Amino acid sequence: MSDTLTARYWTACAVARSAGQLAYQYFQNLDSLTVESKGIQNPVTIADRNVENLIISRLTHCFPTDYFLAEESGGERCDDQVWVIDPIDGTANFVRGLPYFCVSIAYVVNQEIKIGIIYDPSRDELFAAFQGKGATRNDQPMKVTHCQELSSAIIALDIGLRTSIESGFKAVQNLMAQQSVTRHLGSAALALAHVADGRLDGYWNPHLNPWDVLAGQLLVQEAGGWSTDFLAQDGINKGNSILACTPALQQALQNATKTSDC
Ligand code: IPD
Ligand code: CA
Ligand code: CA
Repeated sequence: MSDTLTARYWTACAVARSAGQLAYQYFQNLDSLTVESKGIQNPVTIADRNVENLIISRLTHCFPTDYFLAEESGGERCDDQVWVIDPIDGTANFVRGLPYFCVSIAYVVNQEIKIGIIYDPSRDELFAAFQGKGATRNDQPMKVTHCQELSSAIIALDIGLRTSIESGFKAVQNLMAQQSVTRHLGSAALALAHVADGRLDGYWNPHLNPWDVLAGQLLVQEAGGWSTDFLAQDGINKGNSILACTPALQQALQNATKTSDC
């Protein structure tokens, strides 16, 4: 690890924990939160904004010249190196009191994800990956499962409102026809972390934003899994699909989720 990347890795781990703890304080007092809407099925609260502010201000304090791409504030984009931040991934779960949400922080240099950190405050689990150095959950190495067949797999997916309903249903139908079990969990980032740690065998979403995916993509890859390259075709600016899974499931899942949208 280069010194500057190492410093960013450990700082991002600490910041993700603090940010998750702040999110969890709000989660325990949901009655006092006002839920606003950014669009259809797209809630937001002061928790999202304040958690994001905490992340950016702490990282800026340590690395004053760094750039940020963050869900709530946008931020300055820089193609060379940028932090990509989702303060709360799974906000729809969060505002309803469902404990499936997380903080997601990635660091990208020249189109490569160098650092991926996800923190789940509900379970006090920190998922951390450094490019080329593996992935951990609470400091213990983690690996994807050895799952070989869809008939023994649990595949998470979130079919959003941004892509064709027919394509999404078709993918679910294909998976069910091959006796795969599916889950719609509502946090792409946390589901990707759970592919990395073997609780799930795969995750698919036909269109997401970079802050939903980048940290989780690196976690899966560093845990020995396979994934599509979200950053291909200008994914950092336009968004992209993501498919991530155990290596043995790659072909079957690519076939099952092939749609006209992506
Ligand atoms: C959402 C989650 C969800 C995905 C949505 C995202 P948010 O992020 O990642 O799993 O299906 O498309 O918008 O809004 O909770 O940060
Ligand atoms: Ca998100
Ligand atoms: Ca979010």
